[in-house]
Amino acid sequence: MILENLEKIKEALIENLLSVKNQLDLKQVYDVFLSRKSKINQIMGELKNFTVEERKKIYEIRNFMQQKFNEKVAEIKNEELKKKIINDKIDISLPANNLSILGINPLYLVEEEIVNIFLGLGFSICESNDVDSDHYNFELMNIPKDHVVRDMQDTFYLDNELLMCTHTSHVQAHMMEKFKGQSIRIISPGKCFRRDEDDLTHSHQFMQIEGLLIDKNINLGHLKKILEFFIKKIFGADRKIRIRNSYFPFTEPSIEVDISCDKCNSNGCTSCKGTGYIEILGAGIVNPKVLVMNGYDPKKYSGFAFGVGVERIAILKYGIDDIRRFYVNDIRFLGEFKKI
Ligand code: FA5
Repeated sequence: MILENLEKIKEALIENLLSVKNQLDLKQVYDVFLSRKSKINQIMGELKNFTVEERKKIYEIRNFMQQKFNEKVAEIKNEELKKKIINDKIDISLPANNLSILGINPLYLVEEEIVNIFLGLGFSICESNDVDSDHYNFELMNIPKDHVVRDMQDTFYLDNELLMCTHTSHVQAHMMEKFKGQSIRIISPGKCFRRDEDDLTHSHQFMQIEGLLIDKNINLGHLKKILEFFIKKIFGADRKIRIRNSYFPFTEPSIEVDISCDKCNSNGCTSCKGTGYIEILGAGIVNPKVLVMNGYDPKKYSGFAFGVGVERIAILKYGIDDIRRFYVNDIRFLGEFKKI
C-alpha cells in the first residue's frame, strides 16, 4: 500500500517539475517532495518497519526523485545563465575615457638603466629575496654572530634565524651554492632593510644592485675598469669619481666609490653633508675566506663583487634633495619622470 502511494508521489513530482519555471518554483517542489518533512523522507525514517525488498524499492524511488529534481535544477540554472548573457550585453563600441599616465618612479628608471648596462657586459640577472636567513645574509658572508659589522647593518629580525635582508650580498652565497665551483657573472637587484635613522640620503628601506663576477685571474684592475665604465655610462665622462679604501668582511681589499655632488659643484652642501661627494657603492675582491666557505678553491678562482645604492644614483642623476621623495607617491614628483 505504502509503496503504491510512493509511486503516485513520484508521478506527482514528475508532473510538478514540468511546470517549474524558476528558482521559486523549484523551492516549492523541493519543500513538498524532498524536504525533511516530505512523505518520502518520513518513510526513510521508518525503514526498520519494512522488508529488505521493500527497502530496496523505497531507496530506488527516493534516488529517482532526487535525480529528476537535480536535472531540473541544472536546466533552470542553464536557462537563467542564457537570459543573463542576453540581457547583460556589453557595448564594446563605447569610447573609453583617456587614461592619464602619471609617470614612473625614478628608482625603476635607474634600476633598469643599471641592469641594461650590465646585461650589455655579459652579466645575467638573478633574483634577490627580501627575507633570508642569518646564515646567508651574514654567516656565509664572513660576518659571524659577534662581528662589529653587524652594528653597521642593524637588522630587523623576524625570528632567531630569519631576517629582512640588510644588503643584496646574500645573493653571492646563493649563487656560489648554485654554480658549485664554476664561473659566475651575475647582477641582482633587490631591497634592503636596516634600522638606520632616515635622513636626506639614508632610508630604513632602500634598493641595491649586487654584482658578482668569479673567474680565473680576476683582480682589482678588472673591478675598477667595470665600475668606471658603468659610472661614465650613467653620469657622463666628466663627472668626478672618488675611489676610497674601505672595509667589508666579504671583500679584501675593499673600496667605496663616491660621485661629486652636482648641487654644490663639490663645494659642500646639506645633501652631501658638506663633503662635496655622495657615496654610491661598496665593492672589492671577494675574500678568499668567503670563496672557501662557499665551495670555491681560491687557488683556482678569484672574483669581484659590488653593491650599488639605487636611491643614491637617482639622487645624483636627477638632483633630488631628499631620499624620502621616492617613497611618498606624490603625483607632482612622479609626473616629472617618463620612460623614454
Ligand atoms: C653594503 O651593503 C655591501 N654589501 C656592499 C658590497 C657588496 C661591498 C659587494 C662589497 C662587495 P654599504 O652598507 O656601504 O655596503 O651599502 C652599499 C650602498 O648602498 C651604499 O654605498 C649606498 O649607496 C647604499 N646604502 C647603504 N645604506 C643606505 C641607506 N640607509 N639608505 C640608502 N642607501 C643606502
